[in-house]
Amino acid sequence: MADQAFVTLATNDSYARGAMVLGKSLLNHNTSKKLVALIGPQVSEPCRSVLKRIYDEVKVVDVLDSGDTAHLAMMKRPDLGVTFTKLHCWTLTQYSKCVFMDADTLVLSNIDELFDREELSAAPDPGWPDCFNSGVFVFCPSMETYGKLLQYCTEHGSFDGGDQGVLNGYFSNWATADISKHLPFIYNLSSIAIYTYLPAFKKYGGNAKVVHFLGKTKPWSYTFDPKSKQVSGRAQDSTHPTFLVDWWTLYSSSVVPMMQEQYGDKPFVSGCVESVKLQVSDEVTFESGQVESSPSPPQELQPTMSSEERKQKWEQGQADYMGVDSFDNIQRKLDSFLK
Ligand code: UDP
Ligand code: GLC
Ligand code: MN
Repeated sequence: MADQAFVTLATNDSYARGAMVLGKSLLNHNTSKKLVALIGPQVSEPCRSVLKRIYDEVKVVDVLDSGDTAHLAMMKRPDLGVTFTKLHCWTLTQYSKCVFMDADTLVLSNIDELFDREELSAAPDPGWPDCFNSGVFVFCPSMETYGKLLQYCTEHGSFDGGDQGVLNGYFSNWATADISKHLPFIYNLSSIAIYTYLPAFKKYGGNAKVVHFLGKTKPWSYTFDPKSKQVSGRAQDSTHPTFLVDWWTLYSSSVVPMMQEQYGDKPFVSGCVESVKLQVSDEVTFESGQVESSPSPPQELQPTMSSEERKQKWEQGQADYMGVDSFDNIQRKLDSFLK
């Protein structure tokens, strides 16, 4: 339908790369909806050109920043004040209904059925499930709602310093009012769920429709070898290696060639490399029978830390998900208990 659209946001070139991959993933799964990218003035010309090839509409918006360093520091994400810019999505009144998706999400199958839902539909946040996660949500553009949201920001601010705090404050009855506004978790699967509830991930992870690379380390923070399909780099957050490979496969095959065309002779750092730092080793099997590969770091990359230090770090929320606390190691430990 022409008056329905998927909307994303990128205030800089890094998130613009995410938006390119997201847009491509929606197109690859034959969405019938329009695609809109809101961008900040900082996004470079070559990135704008590529976005315009993927998105029906690329709209420059003012960057809104909460400036709320105190709350952002609690999330260890000082960079997220600019997510207030997301609120601009309510100004897209040429559309009657939209689905907002963070630029760090990736679509794994057609999700046009989300347009059957009403404002404000969203999936639970994995950290506090009585709040919704604002990485994927259904909304109806309206200048009236936009005005009220800005007023809410002025009067109450945001409890997390970003848009999610504002939106949960404004749509405060989400948790209890209407279950049809709770999107199934498979529409916004964040990797953190893998580590907090591994058996559920093994049972349902294969049904995921949208993966959300929530957290400080984004797919574009890594490097990738397109030949061997291996991702390298050390993450501070949890990101499932299989989904990372999906993201990079799409980025390297569809987005990089377009970027190279735009950059011409100018240097362009794609993030694709030839050398391999991590080896693909163990296999993760979803209960559906789908077999996925997951890389594990080579020994020399693993830090030497006592078991007690490791436990302390884990308890402080500083798990080394791509290293000693990797999915493979957790799985091995669970297996040893089961045996
Ligand atoms: N975003 C942006 N520029 C920034 C930070 C965030 O454009 O500097 C947008 C982007 O769409 C991003 C969303 O705001 O996906 C939310 O931020 P992020 O995904 O980093 O938050 P997380 O999901 O990790 O909490
Ligand atoms: C969350 C959401 C993200 C939002 C951020 C700041 O973790 O995933 O979309 O921008 O919090 O509120
Ligand atoms: Mn996100």
